Amino acid sequence: MPGKDGEVQVLLIEDNAEDACLIREVLQDQNSSCAFLITHVEYLQAGLERLQNDSPDVVLLDLSLPDSQGLVTLTRVLSNASRIPVIILTGLNDEAMALESLRLGAQDFLVKSRMAGDLLSRMIRYGIERKRTEEKLRKNAEDLAASNRQLTDFSEALQRANRQLKCLDEAKSKFIAIASHELKTPLAAVIGYLSLVLSGRMGALNEEILAALKHVKTASDRLLRLVDDLLDISKIEMGQLKMDKAPFDLGGFLKEEMQVFQAQAKEYEISLEIKISGDLKRVVCDKDRIRQVFDNLISNAVKYTPRKGIIQIEAKNIESGVQIDFKDTGIGVRKEDEARVFEPFQHIQKAGLHGEKSSGVGLAVVKKIIEAHGGKICLTSVEGQGTMFSVTLPVAEDESAGASV
Ligand SMILES: Nc1ncnc2c1ncn2[C@@H]1O[C@H](COP(=O)(O)OP(=O)(O)OP(=O)(O)O)[C@@H](O)[C@H]1O
Ligand SMILES: [Mg+2]
Repeated sequence: MPGKDGEVQVLLIEDNAEDACLIREVLQDQNSSCAFLITHVEYLQAGLERLQNDSPDVVLLDLSLPDSQGLVTLTRVLSNASRIPVIILTGLNDEAMALESLRLGAQDFLVKSRMAGDLLSRMIRYGIERKRTEEKLRKNAEDLAASNRQLTDFSEALQRANRQLKCLDEAKSKFIAIASHELKTPLAAVIGYLSLVLSGRMGALNEEILAALKHVKTASDRLLRLVDDLLDISKIEMGQLKMDKAPFDLGGFLKEEMQVFQAQAKEYEISLEIKISGDLKRVVCDKDRIRQVFDNLISNAVKYTPRKGIIQIEAKNIESGVQIDFKDTGIGVRKEDEARVFEPFQHIQKAGLHGEKSSGVGLAVVKKIIEAHGGKICLTSVEGQGTMFSVTLPVAEDESAGASV
């Protein structure tokens, strides 16, 4: 690297006094923009010591020295000055060796008897420039390798964390499955006996006890539904939910399902309408699971639509299958809550508008069931104006029944 005021520090390792003198003259004769400050030594050992103490911009090296001969001279210099350009000074008969020295890492070579004009000066400056570019490239490659190593470390840490998360997730699903299953058996007994008592077959009950037991029954039914939903979620997550798929008429089924909610809608003065466009394509689905989907979506629409509102169910064929829209004129979902509604336990509304309880698992189950059928569900909503859930179900090519997901 040129020193201050463009001065280039040259270390000349040359045992031939005449050659050294010639080089000095050639360099000092130049009308070049930079001056050359030459340090001359005759032995390799002296040159190596200089390289340790100073840091010249360039080394001019004769390969035949009193204490070292041939390419060994170069390798010893390079091992002490890997970042400094080395230009080999060679005799007329040594051109083969000079070429070999380029392969080993010398920047250039100059046949001493052809040392004319500003050739040496130019060679030195180009050599320095080339070395500098090489150094930059080397540094970039090192930086790149370091970034690469960091990326690899990061990616490995991420993979480890991912594996841990997966284990935790599986443990959580297993825990929920076991806990839900253990809750279901005693709960079924409670509901069974309650139904028996409420039917009057175990004797007459006074009004007060009857009313209290009806509350207990409603709460127990709700608990059972929640336990069922939790079991479904964990089974789907563990890939253990059995699907009994079979082809069926979706239009007729939708009408039946709508009728189930008609009484409740009437009670809240909500108009519940259905429109089916043309003959719907036959879908291959698990009917009970699809019932669960429709029940959840219609009951949500009722739950979050105020009195005198309208709920419209529209089904039509689309290219990829069948699309069913559940539209309501209810309270809507805020933009920032839209992504959360399909996550379990994200009940944004703490309760329905008509006093219904809210657990926040219905839509999580709905989404997983639809996806298990290869379908999709999406939500469009305007806060305060209404909501539309669009479900698409594909027409399965393989109408095989009893598949499991
Ligand atoms: N039609 C709708 N209009 C407005 N908000 C809705 C509608 N459907 C769902 N939501 C919002 O999405 C949330 C999640 O719905 P989801 O059905 O999963 O749970 P939930 O109805 O609160 O409880 P449950 O588990 O008893 O169904 C609801 O709490 C509500 O805030
Ligand atoms: Mg719900």
